[in-house]
Amino acid sequence: MAMLEAQGLTKAFGGVAAVSAVNLAVQENRIYSIIGPNGAGKTTLFNLLSGRLPCDHGRVFFKGIEITGLAPEHIVRMGMGRSFQVTNIFPKLTVFENIQSTVLFQQGKGLSLFAAAHALGIEETETVLDMVGMLEKREEPAGVLSAGDLKRLELGIVLATKPDLLLLDEPTCGMSPVETSATIELIKRIADETSLTVLFTEHKMDVVFSISSHITVMNFGRVIAAGPPEVIRANGEVQRIYFGEG
Ligand SMILES: Nc1ncnc2c1ncn2[C@@H]1O[C@H](COP(=O)(O)OP(=O)(O)OP(=O)(O)O)[C@@H](O)[C@H]1O
Ligand SMILES: [Mg+2]
Repeated sequence: MAMLEAQGLTKAFGGVAAVSAVNLAVQENRIYSIIGPNGAGKTTLFNLLSGRLPCDHGRVFFKGIEITGLAPEHIVRMGMGRSFQVTNIFPKLTVFENIQSTVLFQQGKGLSLFAAAHALGIEETETVLDMVGMLEKREEPAGVLSAGDLKRLELGIVLATKPDLLLLDEPTCGMSPVETSATIELIKRIADETSLTVLFTEHKMDVVFSISSHITVMNFGRVIAAGPPEVIRANGEVQRIYFGEG
C-alpha cells in the first residue's frame, strides 16, 4: 500500500488547468520529488494533497484512508506535515520558542497557554532543534536569522508536528549552492534517521537527482514522466523541457 496516493487529481483556476488528472503513489520510507518549470502545478498539487485547496475532481488517500475534502488540520494530525513557501514563523519569538509553541500545539496545549507553558515540551523542543542543527541558535529571535537558518527553523516547525510524511515545497528556494547542499544533506539525514517519507518539489536538477528514489515531472498541470532518476534523466521530453532541444 502506498503511504500517499492521488487518483485523477484535477484543479482549474478560471481557464487555467493548474493540475490535470494527476496520479501519484508515494511509497513509505523513500524520498520522492516533483519537478517541473514555473507554473507547472507543483504547489497547487501540494495544496490539493494537504487539503489546503479543494480539488475539482479526483481522490487522495493517506495511509490507506481517503482524505479528500478533509480539513488541513485534520490531515496534519493524521501525520502529514508540510512547509509553506510563505513561512509561518513568529519573528519576535526565539528559535526555541517557535519550535516549542508547535510542540505544545501538537500536544493539544494551544498558544493561549503559552505564557504559563515555558517549562513544557523542553525535551522534545531540544530534540527537534538538534535534528535541524539549531541548538546553538536557540535564543536568537527568528526575525534575525539568515535565509538558510529560516528554512532550517521552518523544517523544525514541521518536524515538531511529528509527521510520518513530510511535504516540502522548494525547501532550497533562494539558497546559495552551499546552503542548498547543506539543506539537502539535512533532509536526507533526517529521512534516514527517523524513517520519514519525504515528498518535495524543486527547481534545481542536481539536487533532485542526488537524493530522490523517485521523480515525477510535471508540465502544464500534467504528469509527463515518472520513475527513478536514471529513467527521468534519459527521458526525451524531460530533456526538451529542461535543457532545450539540440
Ligand atoms: N490561486 C490561484 N489563482 C489563480 N491561478 C493560480 C492560483 N494558484 C496557481 N495558479 C496558476 O496555476 C498554475 C500552476 O501554479 P503553481 O503555483 O501550482 O505552479 P508551480 O509549479 O508551483 O510553480 P513555481 O515553480 O513557480 O512555484 C499557474 O498557471 C498559476 O498561475
Ligand atoms: Mg510552486
